[in-house]
Amino acid sequence: MLDKINSLKAAIEALSATSKEEVEALRIKYLSKKGEISLLFNDFRTVPNEQKKEIGQKLNELKNLATEKINNLREAVDNKQSDSNDLDLTRTASPLRLGKRHPISLVKEEIISIFSRLGFTIAEGPEVEDDWHVFSSLNFAADHPARDMQDTFFIQRNPDVLLRTHTSSVQSRVMTTTEPPIRIICPGRVYRNEAISARAHCFFHQVEALYIDKDVSFADLKQTLLYFAREMFGKDTQIRLRPSYFPFTEPSAEMDISCHICGGKGCAFCKHTGWVEILGCGMVDPNVLDACGIDSKKYSGYALGMGIERITNLKYRVKDLRMFSENDVRFLDEFEAVH
Ligand code: DAH
Repeated sequence: MLDKINSLKAAIEALSATSKEEVEALRIKYLSKKGEISLLFNDFRTVPNEQKKEIGQKLNELKNLATEKINNLREAVDNKQSDSNDLDLTRTASPLRLGKRHPISLVKEEIISIFSRLGFTIAEGPEVEDDWHVFSSLNFAADHPARDMQDTFFIQRNPDVLLRTHTSSVQSRVMTTTEPPIRIICPGRVYRNEAISARAHCFFHQVEALYIDKDVSFADLKQTLLYFAREMFGKDTQIRLRPSYFPFTEPSAEMDISCHICGGKGCAFCKHTGWVEILGCGMVDPNVLDACGIDSKKYSGYALGMGIERITNLKYRVKDLRMFSENDVRFLDEFEAVH
C-alpha cells in the first residue's frame, strides 16, 4: 500500500497538461469515484489496524496533493487560453477620447462639397495681403471706408500690408494667374477691426465662389444659388434676390432664403419677414476683369461670397459668435461629423 501511495505521489507530481480536456481526463483518472486514489481509499479497509493511522494520513495527503495539482493545471491552462485569445496588442492603456470636427469645418466642408458637384475647385490665398489684391483690383475707390484703419487691420503702411477683410482677394490672385474658364471656391479666414460681441468678431470665415467664362449670365448665377440653397437647407427652400451694391460686382445682389425655421410663415428668427439673408453676389464688374488681365469684352463671370459662421448659425442656431473660437469642449461635443 505504501509503495502504491509513493509511486502515485511521484506520478502526480510529474503531471502536466496543455488543454482543459487533458486536465479533465487527469481528474477522472485520479480523483473520480472510480479513480486511482478512490480505489486506494476502498482498499483502506484491508489495512491492518496498527498501520491505519500512518497510511490514512498518507492517503489524505495524496488526495490533497492530487486535488491541488489538478486545480493548478486547470488554472494554468485557462490563463494560457485567455492569453492567446484576448490579448490585444493594439489596445491603449487608457480609453481614447474621440474628438469632434469643429462646426465651422463641418459647414465649410459641406459648402465645398456642394460647389464641387458643380465643378468648382478649391483655391486659397494668403491671409496677410497687400492693398491691391484686397481693394484696388476689386474696384474699391481710393477713399473707400473699408480701407480705413477703423475697419481693416494694417500690418504696415506705404506700401500697405494688411490682414485680408474678405476672401474676394483670392479672386484677384487667381484671375491674374489663370486663363478662363475659371471655376473656383475659396474658403478662408478673414479679419476686421470690430469690437468683439455676440454678433461680431474680429476674425471669421468666408467662402467665395467665382466663375468666369464666355457668356456667363445672371441666369447661371441664379441657378447656382438655387442649387446651393436647396442642397444646404433642404429642397423646399426658396430664394430671393435683392438689388445691392459691392464695388467688385455689377449688378450686385443679396440673397435671402425662405426661413427654414418657420418655413416662410414668419417667426422671431426671421424677424417675421419669412426670409433670412445669407450671401452677397453679382456679375463680376468689367473693371475687375480688366484690372486682373482678363478681357472683359470676351469674358464675363459671376461671384458670390458668404460668411461660414452665418450659415452655421442658420443651420445650428448658435446664438453667440464667440462660441466658435472659445474651444469649449462642451460646445464642440454637440457637433457630429456627417462626412
Ligand atoms: N466680399 C463680400 C464681403 O466680404 C462678400 C461678397 C459679396 C463676395 C458679393 C462676392 C460678391 O464675391 O459677389 O462682404
